[in-house]
Amino acid sequence: MKIRVDAEKCQGHNRCFVLAPDLFVLDDYGYAQADNDGIVPKGEEEKARLAIANCPEKAIFIVEED
Ligand code: F3S
Repeated sequence: MKIRVDAEKCQGHNRCFVLAPDLFVLDDYGYAQADNDGIVPKGEEEKARLAIANCPEKAIFIVEED
């Protein structure tokens, strides 16, 4: 599974980072990017889906499903 944060949609709500701190990194302004080139480690898929569902801006996307 691979995910991506749309930088134009992200408004820095940080719910993704709170729910799945291993999957996202924040810049100095609090905007998120997917960590590890967006590759979600095995077993972390549900956390990724939780983050996707909880982003108020719908800024997180699945790029590839396994
Ligand atoms: Fe941005 Fe959504 Fe996370 S707005 S910081 S991708 S919760």
